Formats: sequence, C-alpha cells, structure tokens
Amino acid sequence: MQKFVIQGGRHLEGEISVQGAKNSALPIAAAALLCDGTSCLENCPRLSDVFAACKILTNLGCRCSISGNIVTVDAHGMHSSEIPEQFMCEMRSSIIFLGAVLGRMGSCTLGYPGGCELGPRPINLHLQALRRMGVKIREENGILHCTTPVGLHGARIHLQFPSVGATENILLAAVTAKGETTISNAAREPEIIDLARFLRRCGAVIAGEGTGTITVSGVAQLHGCTYPIMPDRIVAATWLAAAAAVGGVLRLRHVCPADMESILAVFEEMNCRISTGEDSICFHAGTPLYAVRTLKTMPYPGFPTDAQAILMAALCRAKGTSVIEETIFENRFRHVDALVRMGADIRTAGRAAIVNGVQELHGAAVEATDLRGGAAMLIAGLCAAGETVITEIHHIDRGYDSPEQVLRSVGAEIIRT
Ligand code: EPZ
Repeated sequence: MQKFVIQGGRHLEGEISVQGAKNSALPIAAAALLCDGTSCLENCPRLSDVFAACKILTNLGCRCSISGNIVTVDAHGMHSSEIPEQFMCEMRSSIIFLGAVLGRMGSCTLGYPGGCELGPRPINLHLQALRRMGVKIREENGILHCTTPVGLHGARIHLQFPSVGATENILLAAVTAKGETTISNAAREPEIIDLARFLRRCGAVIAGEGTGTITVSGVAQLHGCTYPIMPDRIVAATWLAAAAAVGGVLRLRHVCPADMESILAVFEEMNCRISTGEDSICFHAGTPLYAVRTLKTMPYPGFPTDAQAILMAALCRAKGTSVIEETIFENRFRHVDALVRMGADIRTAGRAAIVNGVQELHGAAVEATDLRGGAAMLIAGLCAAGETVITEIHHIDRGYDSPEQVLRSVGAEIIRT
C-alpha cells in the first residue's frame, strides 16, 4: 500500500504548470462516445479516474488509448450500452456516462452509483430530467434499466438545484435528441462551459452555457474533434493553499484565474498577495496569515465545495478564528479528525466548522478519507513540524497527477513509498 512521507516546514518557491481538469476530462470523455469517429483530448491529467473512464469506454466497444496527456477515443465501433457494476463502484461519477450512452444507443443499463465518502450521492435530479426527455427507467436490485421507447426528445427542464452532474447528463442526452431542450437553473461551473465547447466543436448546437439557462437544439450526428481540456482550478487552489500554509512564492502557469475569482479573493483576505496574467498566477504567501471570518461553499460562481478542505488546512495556522460552512455536501468534514491529530484546533457542528488558528502543527500518521480531504492532509503535512505519513493515498491519486513530483519541484520534502 503506497503512502506519502513528508518532512514539514520547507518553504515553497518556484513555478508549477497546472494539470488539466479532472472534472472536465471525465464528462468530455463520456461525450466522445456520442461522436461517430475519433476524438483527441489534449492536456488530460494522468489520474486513476481518467483511466477508469477509459476502461468504461473500452467496455462499451470504443477504442480508447492514453499516450502522455492525450486520450484518444474512437467511438465508431461502440456496441454495448451496459456499464458493469464494478465500474459504478470504482468511480461514482460514472453516472455521467448515462446521458451519453442514451444519446448514442437509445438505452443504458448501469448500477446505481453508491454513496461515497461525502455522503449519499442521490441522482434524482438526473433521472427526473431524463424521464422528461422520454427515458423509461426501471430499477431492479440496484440496477437501472433505461430505455427510450419513443426515442430521446427535447424538453423544458428546471433543476431544483444547479447540479453539475445532472446538467452534464442532460446536455449529453440533449445534443442528439429530437428537438429543443432548455435547462433552467443549470450549473454554471467552468467545467460545464468546457463540455459545451467540446460538444459544439463536434457539431452540437448549444447556447447559454455558463449562465443559468442553457438551450440545446438536437442534431442528427456528431463528429470527433481535437480538444484541449481546461486547467484544473481546484488543483491550482491546492498548490496556492500549500504555499499559503507553509510560506513562499509560487508562480502557476497554464491556469485560468478568471475561473478562480472566489478562491483568489479568500487568499487575499488571508493577507496573501496575488497578481494574475491571462493564464498565470503569481502568489506571495501572507505573513502572518489572517483567518477568514466566514467561508461558505456555494454553487459556481460562489466558493467551491472542492476547495473547502484545502483552505481549511491553510487556515489551521492563520491568526484568528475562521468559520467554514459546507452547504453542498452532507458529510464533507471527514478530514477534520486528521487535522486535529496534527494539532489543529477545529470544532464541527453540523455543516459548520470553527477553525482557531494555532502556532504550529506537528507531524502524525494519518489516513486519507477522500480526494480533497487527502489533499488537505498533504497541505497540513507540508507545514507541520516533523514527519507526516499519509496512507490510503489512492484517494489523492484520483484527482492529482504525481502530486509528490509537483511539490518536490518547488522545494517540498515529500516521497511516495
Ligand atoms: C461534481 O459532482 C464534481 N464531480 C464534484 O467534485 C463537485 O464537488 C460537485 O460537482 C459540486 O461542484 C465531478 O464533476 C466528477 P452535484 P456532482 O450534482 O455532479 C445533490 C471532486 O472532489 N444532488 O452538483 O455529483 C448532491 O447530493 C468531486 O472532484 C442531489 O440531491 O455534484 C450534492 O449535495 C467531489 N440530487 C449536491 O447536489 C442529484 O440528482 C451537489 O451535487 C444530484 C445532486
């Protein structure tokens, strides 16, 4: 079982080229199966979740290969509409294949995606929307049998909550459905915009992505294309939080500051100095680091839930008390116990966490609980006195491409054993 061993206290200094976005690469990989031809996805991060998506595509009959950071998908030979149980367990976000498989094959059989470390992950919004588009769904022993007896057709859909996954599934089902689809209260995340841009380059007719209302006019067929995946804004936030926590100066390249306004504003409130270019960020850690009175996670363009654990780790040593409110997921404070073991002063009450900054954290043996919680432990280990050992790092490998190499390149003392 692999683990990270970190000797804390080393300032970070240098330049990092930020990886492509996991949460864009996954829905775009699913979208590639809608195309009767070959798509080349550039700037793809090398992550276990991306490898899992390729296994699903291959299982469906597509030819999928990964060379460096390029994922090539030839969907011409697709022959199956079934996603086996083990894939749904391996990666919860496999649900994103539902809309695309329905769009291509007119049917789909897949297991109910289990809950995950963040709490139950319902898909009611996905299924309600797809039913309005003509999908018949029968659930039997945890398996969903989806068919489209009269074919997929457009619909007017209002999302009770701007769900990222539901918005993506509706887009994927709508682009080759008959007629118009309108999504109101759609998710506005940058990853939705990236997916819409990919689909448009494949011939889809979409408007409004990035606003709360998206319209799609179904077309008969999509063709493959070459597309560069957007930068990962949460990975970028992770490196900045590491520098904020341990001190130093970082320059990030291949990043999109415009996607990170809510995150950068928090770092500036913490007394960090930031200057941005079109695709770069120059970051000076604040000394001292200030606490943040209230930090509330919200749908985009609000502060992202995926950056909550990461900023909490940096706030552990800030001067003063920060109150963090997690409004998106039910159970997204699982990293708190590990941070407290390392000397942090954090109390949780329901969806709120109160962080009192302390002078110093100390190294400890901790276990990663989920993807971003594991990243929070990485950050805490970098600024803790002494040695930190993190196990269950497969959680971290789901979203970070060689994090130990990236951090070592800017001065951290971290190895993967
Ligand atoms: C996506 O998950 C991301 N995953 C998550 O990133 C991210 O945290 C989340 O969006 C919010 O930004 C991928 O893109 C692969 P949601 P998703 O549907 O689509 C509830 C990471 O760390 N909900 O916007 O599952 C749901 O329970 C991961 O990279 C319903 O109630 O997020 C949650 O409380 C973690 N019914 C809230 O909405 C539904 O049908 C947000 O979920 C769907 C969702």
